[in-house]
Amino acid sequence: MHDADVLVFATPVYYYSVSGQFKTMLDRANPLFGTDYAFTKAYLLATAAENEAATVEGTVKAVQSWVDCFDRCELAETIFAGGVSSVGDIAGHPALEQAYQSGKEV
Ligand SMILES: Cc1cc2nc3c(=O)[nH]c(=O)nc-3n(C[C@H](O)[C@H](O)[C@H](O)COP(=O)(O)O)c2cc1C
Repeated sequence: MHDADVLVFATPVYYYSVSGQFKTMLDRANPLFGTDYAFTKAYLLATAAENEAATVEGTVKAVQSWVDCFDRCELAETIFAGGVSSVGDIAGHPALEQAYQSGKEV
């Protein structure tokens, strides 16, 4: 993470926030704080069962709060795949194309 130009985070929406595993990863990345890290952009990929704009708000806030602690980094984009509950539901979801296009521009 220290040497990466771009960070791409991915988490399911769990109880309108991030997953526990993802939060632990952010917390354990704490040694990056105060270092000469390279990353200037972070992207967030998130899935959820519900498909409302509000569904992902708490997840974005959790990630934005981490990014805000790194002055040279911004949360460049959130790509949200709502309506995803079961294996295979994400097939053909517009978020996949959105992620592909964003990835090409990085
Ligand atoms: C513990 C848990 C909490 C969840 N909380 C939410 C939620 O708050 N809102 C929502 O829309 N979906 C929620 N979901 C559904 C997941 O976000 C969704 O199915 C996701 O695609 C699952 O990803 P996973 O297979 O990596 O767990 C929850 C699922 C689990 C297992």
